Amino acid sequence: MTANVTEARPVLVVDKLTVGYGKAPIVREASLRVSAGEVAVLIGPNGSGKSTLLKGMAGALTPMSGTVVISGEPDQDITGNPPERMNRHGMAYVPQLANVFPSLTVVENLELGMYGTRRGVSERIEYVFAVFPDLSSAKRKTARVLSGGQREMLALGRALMGKPKVMLVDEPTAGLSPRYQDVVWEQLGRLRDSGVALFVVEQNTRQALDEADRAYVLVAGQMRREGLARDLLVDEELVRMFIGEGLGAG
Ligand SMILES: Nc1ncnc2c1ncn2[C@@H]1O[C@H](COP(=O)(O)OP(=O)(O)O)[C@@H](O)[C@H]1O
Ligand SMILES: [Mg+2]
Repeated sequence: MTANVTEARPVLVVDKLTVGYGKAPIVREASLRVSAGEVAVLIGPNGSGKSTLLKGMAGALTPMSGTVVISGEPDQDITGNPPERMNRHGMAYVPQLANVFPSLTVVENLELGMYGTRRGVSERIEYVFAVFPDLSSAKRKTARVLSGGQREMLALGRALMGKPKVMLVDEPTAGLSPRYQDVVWEQLGRLRDSGVALFVVEQNTRQALDEADRAYVLVAGQMRREGLARDLLVDEELVRMFIGEGLGAG
């Protein structure tokens, strides 16, 4: 699903972001950019700070320093904004184990993605169904009866309700069988092709580099590598680093 993304204009620019939980930073001065119609993945060992960085970008944690900017006319500095404002400026965040509400129907779960706004709900639901037709055929079902892959699709669909320019997605394939991992990557490809810029944390390094356009490597809280995913896939140092996680094996 790789797109041609050599010189796309960035939608999201993160500059020297430092994030942590107490006084000690976990992620130090991480910089990155994501462009429309591009999937960028963030890979790195367990505990390297990937989720922490995403939380700092999404405002779920307040960054200690650095900036998060949505490009536009004019640019919007959204550093540390609460979720509703993030949403208004075009940023959606899908945390790991995204909370779909099991007792609510697919449609009711999607409506929650509008943050209380009633205007344009049905048009937006139709839009989400156009991107994810499988959700349409399940629209009256409760989320409880969905498969793991369908739940992730619902979480992505809910994030899409706010018309995001950029989506931050934390480990969407975690815990899914290989078949559903492929399904989720296909869904991410659909979102990408709909024009959304995607920044995705992935554990499965090989699949991430196979599927993504651009990749960032976070090690011990520091951004150590950045490049086109296909270049990193053949990078021997990177392969050595992740060899225990199977990148060299396939
Ligand atoms: N809520 C928290 N409070 C304090 N430390 C945390 C918290 N969550 C994660 N950490 C620590 O931050 C570091 C990075 O964790 P995390 O961002 O979850 O890594 P990754 O997502 O790359 O596996 C780890 O050392 C972890 O123990
Ligand atoms: Mg994580």
